[in-house]
Amino acid sequence: MTFAQPALSFILLGFIHMVYCQWQIWDIWQTTWDQKMLLAYSQPNPAPINFVTPGPIGSADIVIDDTAVYQTIYGFGAALTDSSAQLLYNLKTQNSGSYWSLMDYLFNATDGANSAGFSFIRVPLGATDFSARNYSYDDVSGDTPLYDFNIGAAPSYVFTVLRDILSINNMLRVYVLPWSPPGWMKESGTMDGGSLNTAYISVMANYLLKSLQGFQSEGIPVYAIGIQNEPENSNPTYPTCSMPVSTEADIGIALRTYMNGNGFGDTKIIGYEHNWADAANYPVQLMQQAASSFDGVSFHCYAGSVSDQAEFTSQYPNKEVYFTECSGTIGTDWWTDIKWYMDNLFIGSLAYGSSTGLMWNLALDGNGNPKLSGTSSCNPPCRGVVQINSNGTWSVNQEFYAMGQASKAILPRDVGGPWGQRIGVSVGGELNWALVVGAYVTKRVSPTDWNRYSIVVLNW
Ligand SMILES: *[C@@H]1O[C@H](CO)[C@@H](O)[C@H](O)[C@H]1NC(C)=O
Ligand SMILES: *[C@@H]1O[C@H](CO)[C@@H](O)[C@H](O)[C@H]1NC(C)=O
Ligand SMILES: *[C@@H]1O[C@H](CO)[C@@H](O)[C@H](O)[C@H]1NC(C)=O
Repeated sequence: MTFAQPALSFILLGFIHMVYCQWQIWDIWQTTWDQKMLLAYSQPNPAPINFVTPGPIGSADIVIDDTAVYQTIYGFGAALTDSSAQLLYNLKTQNSGSYWSLMDYLFNATDGANSAGFSFIRVPLGATDFSARNYSYDDVSGDTPLYDFNIGAAPSYVFTVLRDILSINNMLRVYVLPWSPPGWMKESGTMDGGSLNTAYISVMANYLLKSLQGFQSEGIPVYAIGIQNEPENSNPTYPTCSMPVSTEADIGIALRTYMNGNGFGDTKIIGYEHNWADAANYPVQLMQQAASSFDGVSFHCYAGSVSDQAEFTSQYPNKEVYFTECSGTIGTDWWTDIKWYMDNLFIGSLAYGSSTGLMWNLALDGNGNPKLSGTSSCNPPCRGVVQINSNGTWSVNQEFYAMGQASKAILPRDVGGPWGQRIGVSVGGELNWALVVGAYVTKRVSPTDWNRYSIVVLNW
């Protein structure tokens, strides 16, 4: 199948139907460089756009290979940090209509809804650099049986907002992981930097199991858990922890056993959770040491390049890959950012095997706050996917549109139905550099219904 060259700079999502072997575009969601269209729905006029059989390559022709079917895509989203949850909760108390319209615009995953349909949320276990204070769920020094473990150490607004998201999108996948073990389990004695005392490996695994049970008691089902955010980063100004591969492997092995014995056999364990640059080392060694305990690994964008993901996938093609963190910074160019995000993350990372595409903070204010007092992170200030203002208004940033364009392509077509899977696509012609394309098939509950095909196109 080929599709004629589009003319303007845009990202476009076309939903494609096949009728008697004629492929047609019926539905379009579009965001343009000049911001005249912002995740805007339209139908082609005249409808539909017919695909044609491959002929001589034009200036830039998209060729889809629906016989090559790859990984399932689990969704797009961001991290619900304490700061993001606090801003959202404040908006709810200040202006509940505005809060619910924002929540709907972010999370309503109904097919065809005017929403990005975000479906994957990463939630820190305890404090990060975007918290009101540093805390873990058990800050009683030496409490190795974890008698004083208390999920309620987290601000209640985190769980309130999560339950609100679930009330809009019951397909939400929640991924939890700590930025640091409790300070008393570490050589440094504080959550800020340092490393785990390896005498506490099984205690830390139990801490993670209790975290899953804590989320369950708050009414939040957990899809996946990680062992340690950014295990190659130790920073004395905010919760961080450097963790060698062997420690993460040992915690993962212990945790898998605890989870299987406590009703969490279906909850995934994701490892690594750090930059592309070390894809050939840390995540590969983690699988060498504990492949049966880890379902996959996750990547961040802050060092290396997206093609580094192949260093891992080439060695472990049957393990899952997640792209889980990148942040925009305040003051950068809107369209330049969108091009980079589509190239490297929301089309690019998927092309290199990822099943998700996530940004860092879901919501921040216009100055990239609030942050943990004294942290040196996010300098220049980080931008949230959403900006929430103290006067009860909100706006969405370029990260929203980049992820929204990709998200709509893979949401289930049917209630309770399958999620989109990536399929083969290439671009031919002398202008092929100008189009970056991802292609997806979303299968149906009833085998007699047509599959939905989608293409996500960035036009440089
Ligand atoms: C989601 O969007 C659909 C379609 O626009 C709408 O019917 C439904 O009420 C929305 N759901 C929620 C929870 O807002
Ligand atoms: C929080 O930070 C303070 C000051 O840096 C430190 O003394 C304290 O131990 C930290 N608390 C935890 C739970 O790590
Ligand atoms: C609310 O605050 C934002 C950010 O400071 C500002 O841009 C906007 O104009 C304000 N809106 C109202 C209605 O005051």
